[in-house]
Amino acid sequence: MQLDLLLRDGTVLTSLGAARVDIGIRAGRIEWVGTGDRAAREVLSVKGLHVLPGVIDSQVHFREPGAEHKEDLQTGSRAAVLGGVATVYEMPNTEPATSTPDALADKLERARGRMWCDHAFFVGARPDNLDRLGELERLPGTPGVKMFLGRSTGGLLVQDESAIRSALAHGRRRMAVHSEDQARLDERHHLAREAGHPRAHPDWRDAETARRSTERLLRLSSETGRPVHVLHVTTAEEVELLAAARSLATFEVTPQHLTLAAPDCYEELGTFAQMNPPIREARHREALWEAVRSGLVDVIGSDHAPHTRDEKARPYPESPAGMPGVQTLLPLMLDHVSQGRLSLERLVELVCSGPARIYGARRKGRIEPGYDADFTIVDLETERRVEESWLASRCGWSPFTGRTLRGWPIFTIIRGHQVMRDGEVLGDPSGVPVEFDLGDSGDRSAVDRVPVGA
Ligand code: DOR
Repeated sequence: MQLDLLLRDGTVLTSLGAARVDIGIRAGRIEWVGTGDRAAREVLSVKGLHVLPGVIDSQVHFREPGAEHKEDLQTGSRAAVLGGVATVYEMPNTEPATSTPDALADKLERARGRMWCDHAFFVGARPDNLDRLGELERLPGTPGVKMFLGRSTGGLLVQDESAIRSALAHGRRRMAVHSEDQARLDERHHLAREAGHPRAHPDWRDAETARRSTERLLRLSSETGRPVHVLHVTTAEEVELLAAARSLATFEVTPQHLTLAAPDCYEELGTFAQMNPPIREARHREALWEAVRSGLVDVIGSDHAPHTRDEKARPYPESPAGMPGVQTLLPLMLDHVSQGRLSLERLVELVCSGPARIYGARRKGRIEPGYDADFTIVDLETERRVEESWLASRCGWSPFTGRTLRGWPIFTIIRGHQVMRDGEVLGDPSGVPVEFDLGDSGDRSAVDRVPVGA
């Protein structure tokens, strides 16, 4: 039968590595990957370009409902597709928080006809919904539950050990966790107040705050048998703990923590470099890179966390934590590829197959027949400056403006439709919710995880 679209002459990142093959698409799915002639209604030559599975950013904060002056589902998802991101998983710390079936249904409804990319919304754990988490995590449209162990933007927090254990005991899917120890944050907050400068941010929220929390989380994960995914890991000490806990724990690092380092980032960017957990000194950044290269890290996510310039310009520590990043995630990481810090194949594991695998997304993250026809097509040779005029996030700034990066997305294709081409967004917003395999645990990591050292 005739194909709808044929992607011809590109270098395709399949599960077996880079190959010079063509891709046939029909009814929004990949029908065929191979060489030889095929009849198609439309042929798109992608000669000289690399075809990646559609990039999934598995940690974004899009602020709707409640703080649409920073971002909304439309502006955030527009930034996503301009940056080559085909799917996002959005975080629950909105106002109200996504912690009930109604709040999740409300987000899915708001997304319909307004989001440019495919999407799923995390459910937030809080002390008053712990015994309902098992039911909440099985609702359509969610990758599962997110739990904050340390307070960040918004009011979501599960602090006591008994409550954390109860959250883990309710439900089976892999749970995403913000891991900082709230008791230690409270004890040390005076350091931030006294310093009055963001260079104190990694002293207040120090490496021990993260290590202690992750150590406890891994102990409770093991006690309850509950798989966890530790978001934005920032310390060498946590990498060591996580390396010994691979049967239950997966983890994420962010491009910010791989690119910036203290103290320089705070001197150059001030509160605009403030995020939770903080950017730390180069020793930690090197440990994160080592973990990226060795195969330990499962996912790179942006933690896109927009705040307005005015909000960020408040005196520290009243300034909110977080940086936008969904649009720069891929160009920044492609630049790291061009500098030889990781291979393109490894990047595909971290931003395509990894985020699909750990939460059990159906038909996403790979270029194989039967999968959704989602592609992020990149030019590894293009060099361009990050210009403010290119940014689509409502917050209007990026910590990376003015940097020249090598390696840029040229097309974002979602279920066979060109949604972004050469810096222009095309058509109408038509993102749909991601479907997930719940199976036993909604988690296939035990069977197809990347071996360490691969
Ligand atoms: O810096 C951060 N900002 N870290 C988080 O965990 C939350 C985020 C936000 O929503 O602003």
